[in-house]
Amino acid sequence: MPSKREVNSAFKQDVLAGLSMTPKRLSSRYFYDDQGSRLFQEIMTLPEYYLTGCETEIFTEQADAIVDGFLAAGTDIDVVELGAGDGSKTAILLKHLLERDASVKYSPIDISKEAIDELAENFRTKLPQLTIEPYVGDYFAILDSLQKAADRRKIILFLGSNIGNFSADATKEFLASLRAVMNEDDLLFIGFDLQKDPRVIHQAYDDAAGVTARFNLNLLDRINRELGGNFVKENFLHYANYRPIEGSARSYLISRQKQTVEVAGQRFEFDRWEPVFMEISQKYTLPVIENFAREAGFRIAKNFFDSREYYCDSLWRSEPR
Ligand SMILES: C[S@@+](CC[C@H](N)C(=O)[O-])C[C@H]1O[C@@H](n2cnc3c(N)ncnc32)[C@H](O)[C@@H]1O
Repeated sequence: MPSKREVNSAFKQDVLAGLSMTPKRLSSRYFYDDQGSRLFQEIMTLPEYYLTGCETEIFTEQADAIVDGFLAAGTDIDVVELGAGDGSKTAILLKHLLERDASVKYSPIDISKEAIDELAENFRTKLPQLTIEPYVGDYFAILDSLQKAADRRKIILFLGSNIGNFSADATKEFLASLRAVMNEDDLLFIGFDLQKDPRVIHQAYDDAAGVTARFNLNLLDRINRELGGNFVKENFLHYANYRPIEGSARSYLISRQKQTVEVAGQRFEFDRWEPVFMEISQKYTLPVIENFAREAGFRIAKNFFDSREYYCDSLWRSEPR
């Protein structure tokens, strides 16, 4: 596991490199400090942010079929969740697994200590019979250790369309690295947000109450606090759009004025209306999902959709190599 100092130095390197690029960019993987995790939990309750409701509906309405898929090859399983957040949706599935007398060990992994602490406390009261091994850290860093824990079948969960934050190339690389640590009978369960009315998607990233704006701007606070920055948040605005041809929602922070900002002793010039690229949230079609699965060496066992077909949780089996 990387030390706190290593994590901080990766954060510093990425921020300084990103602010030196043209156009400037900051990585959304750094959104989730404690305050960022709290703000994301607030986003999940917003009427515009349909993703959480869709995935909750799928898990609630189709829990039996999903759990059938999970237990098809045996009832002793390690459930490993990448970027678990508050785990509230996962709790629905875990409860059903326990009701089916499955022997389950649940390992939620998240970069945010606050999210993991809260999840662990909630689960101990909600599902006291569950064996839980929470882990605070970067999911890219723990992939190798997953292979070593190969004595039981594992089911890897990657929910909330978290995969949408990766570029197409990064998605392929990530899926291939997951495939590399999976054994026969292991499963991968991924949430994909589907393409739909562009106005619905746009609003999900530009909510009326401005919580998504605060979520993006919070990264400037984090940079100020952890890297000795002097960003003035009021000098930036949050802007989100959806590109229907590429199927991607993008968010930016826009400099409201010409300004100079200092981070870790380096100075960065911003022009008036200059954008800083913050996050991509890719939306998918079924052929694209099928293609990702095939190219990375998986076969789709079953797709689960919500009633509006806004969202798809896809259960993948690894193809023999
Ligand atoms: C979009 S949220 C999804 C949360 C949850 N899976 C859900 O469906 O509601 C992304 C979560 O992944 C975590 N995360 C992002 N990048 C990460 C990384 N590289 N390693 C571990 N966790 C990460 C964040 O802290 C956050 O809790």
